Amino acid sequence: MTDTNILQSEVPLCELNDLQEQQATEMVVEQRQLFAVRYNDCVYAYWNICPHMGSPLNWVPNQFLDINKESIQCALHGALFEIKTGQCTMGPCYGDALQPVKLRCDKHQYFITAGQPLPPIPVNLRAQALADLDRE
Ligand code: FES
Repeated sequence: MTDTNILQSEVPLCELNDLQEQQATEMVVEQRQLFAVRYNDCVYAYWNICPHMGSPLNWVPNQFLDINKESIQCALHGALFEIKTGQCTMGPCYGDALQPVKLRCDKHQYFITAGQPLPPIPVNLRAQALADLDRE
């Protein structure tokens, strides 16, 4: 039987030059959202889950950085996270960290490595509320 909480096979993420310096991109893998940021010619990736309340960090597609593009910023309550470590440096979840997505780099091509644990599939609250209304 297959463990659905483990990424079974490697997934291509991007090439370094797909992103400009201090640019982010997002994607969905196995129904989980993640994002990646190019910073100092490396790519860092995290699951798109804020440790404060478990919500996605962004409201606007591919927008994850603060105005200076030096930190990852949660759009909900403004927590700031180090791009290189995912560590929260300011905000309501100070001391917590984003959950990293393990990557493999081969000649500037980045892959999401197989065998790593996957976070829970997010609940679609809007769809759930609409389904609840239909049942009433
Ligand atoms: S949900 Fe991210 S800072 Fe509150």
